[in-house]
This record gives sequence, C-alpha cells and structure tokens, in this order.
Amino acid sequence: MRTRTQVGIVGGGPAGLLLSHLLALRGIDSVLIEVRSREYCEARQRAGVLEDGSVALLRDAGLADRLDRQGLIHGGIYLQFDGQRRHIDFRDLTGGRTVTVYAQTEVVKDLIARRLADGGALKFSVTDTSVADLDTDRPVLRYTDEAGTRHEVTCDAIAGCDGFHGVCRPSIPPGVLATWERDYPYAWLGILADVPPSTDELIYAHHQNGFALHSLRSPTVSRLYLQVRPDEDIAEWPDERIWAELAVRFGLPGWTLQTGAVTDKAVTPMRSFVSAPMRFGRLFLAGDAAHIVPPTGAKGLNLALADVAVLAPALDALLHGDQTPAADYSATCLQRVWRSTHFSWWMTTMLHRTPGADEMEMQLQLSQLRYVASSRAAATSLAENYTGLPVPRADG
Ligand code: DHB
Repeated sequence: MRTRTQVGIVGGGPAGLLLSHLLALRGIDSVLIEVRSREYCEARQRAGVLEDGSVALLRDAGLADRLDRQGLIHGGIYLQFDGQRRHIDFRDLTGGRTVTVYAQTEVVKDLIARRLADGGALKFSVTDTSVADLDTDRPVLRYTDEAGTRHEVTCDAIAGCDGFHGVCRPSIPPGVLATWERDYPYAWLGILADVPPSTDELIYAHHQNGFALHSLRSPTVSRLYLQVRPDEDIAEWPDERIWAELAVRFGLPGWTLQTGAVTDKAVTPMRSFVSAPMRFGRLFLAGDAAHIVPPTGAKGLNLALADVAVLAPALDALLHGDQTPAADYSATCLQRVWRSTHFSWWMTTMLHRTPGADEMEMQLQLSQLRYVASSRAAATSLAENYTGLPVPRADG
C-alpha cells in the first residue's frame, strides 16, 4: 500500500514518540513505526533521572501531568567511597537546579497514551523495515504491518530514532559517518524491587568489589545496580546473592539496606559511542541511533529528548523551505552529546573497578572522589553536568 506523510519516524522509544508529539503540536503529520509491541515498549526498564531541562521540555509540550504528580525531585546525590558517604548538594552548587526521578518507562507510557488520544499514527510490531532515497527530497519508508500488509510511505524527511541496533544508521552509505567507540570491561546487573528505598537520594558507591548504585522509583519501589562482568550469567545471581553483595558495597556502620521482592532483573552492557554527522540528506538520526553513553549519570534519555527538541523546529523550518536549522541540527546536538559523553565516561571510570587493574587505579579514583567531595569547584562541575545543560524549549 502506498501512502504519504510529512515525517516518517523509525522507532517508538522516547525520541521517536516525543518527536511525533512535538511535530503534531506544529501541525506536522508523521507515521511512527516500531518493531516491538506496545506492551514490550511500556514494560522495558531503563534509567529514571530527568534533568530540569527535560522536565521543562515535557511540561511545555503538555506531557507532564503525571510526571508533576509522581516525579520525585532530588536536590543532590551521595558519593560513597573510603567507608564514607558524602552528599553533593546540587541546589546549593548550581543556584537551585535539581533532577526528577521518574522512570523512562513512565515517560514512554505517557507519550504513547497522548499520541493515541490525539489520533497519532503509531504502528507497533512491524517487520522488514527499510529506508531509501535518503539523498532525495522524497525519502521512502517501507515496512510490513502486524496484519502482514506491506507499506511504502513517501515522506519529506525521515527521523531515525531506532536505537543503536536500528536500520537507519546502517542505511547511510559507507564513508559518510565518522564514529568513535569505547567498550567498558564491565556491565550493570539492575534490579527493581518492592521495597521502600533505604536512602533519600541516590547513592553512587565506589567499592573494591566494584561499583553499586542505589536508585529508586517511588516511596515503595527501589532500583539498584551492581557492577558485574560483561558476560555475566544472570542465573548465577539469585536474589539472595544480589542483596548480600549490595549490602557489602553500600555497607556503613549504623545503616541498613532494606530488602524486598525482586520484580525485574537484567544485565546492561556499557558502551560509549558517537557517530557524526547526525544527518544524511533527509535522514536525521536522534537518540541512541546516533550516540550511546554508559548509564552512570543517567544521560541517555536526556540526550534523546534534547535531540528531538532541536529536530522538531528544524524539520518544521525545512518543510517550510528554510534549510538553515536542519543544516545546523547535527552540530547543535553534538555539542551536548560530547559533553554528556565525557561526563558519563568520567563518572564511569571514576567509580568502576577495571578487572585486573592494579592498585594505582584505585588510588587515582579515590583521590578524584575525595577532591569532588571536598572542593566546591570540583563538586560544582559534577553538579552542573549531572543536572544538565539548558535544553531548547519545545516552542524554540
Ligand atoms: C538510574 C540509572 C542511572 O544510570 C543513574 O545514573 C541513576 C539512576 C535509575 O535507573 O534510576
């Protein structure tokens, strides 16, 4: 079946969904396709920290009703090392900036509900997706829908929001993109547990057994992570072993880690990846399709939202004959991407134990952690990066 839309969007994660909504606010039609089912997209566990700029962007776009009711505002984090837990006070260090703990899954649910309520074209569970004619002004999106019907959608532009393993980036001819990549020799084992958090703010813990993070989802649900091997077999981590290891890495005299029923358990690999430019002809890449950060510092979702906040007005201008914002899209986004790439790498390498590393790594990390915890300048740098750079507004 042949159809036509203004913007074809590949991928129904936060980037693709928010883009379809921001375009709709500008009166631009889109068709969004996603290989997974709606149920899968809404259940997938990801990070849960929104920068102030991301919250403002969602609020300006009319998407923050539940976020404003259920999001937990945090004014700092704890860094734990050397047997001590030190608070980094973002409000004090940055003139009042905070972050909001609200799971990516919830952002996705809110976006899907809103797009469907507004009559948006969201096609889940599609197969055989491809994009073509990217260097013409009529790029084409092809897919087979859930019922088995083949579709060919002629577009004015295509947004590749289909993640690191998606089809869009590999559709760019060889030689166009430069890429930078770093794999880390560790992964995170993440759990979701029905237990009130044992802390009021997130704890990032440096320990000789490896990194641990205590995050949360609500007053009754905790989210915790342990550094493990990249090839870790999750079957070797029954719940009791996870809780015991978390208790060791967060252990402090007089403090107890509460335990509860584990409702989700998964291993996340860690990678830094940047590809540039984020555009080829009329294909624009956004979010993980163009760049990946390791999870330490929770920048992935914020970067994806910031990309599409730049892309929506750029596509609007392009469709109305002004090429300039689209020409600037990649360079504008890459500034933030590289800042977050550096910050995520810095947090990751400061806090994780490299397997086989000598004692010097530990001493260098401890020196840096002591410096961040005791120097206002060093703590301000962490706070400013963690709470994020200003994000372009939806009406920008
Ligand atoms: C969470 C994840 C992160 O990567 C992080 O740095 C902080 C919090 C989370 O899932 O809550």
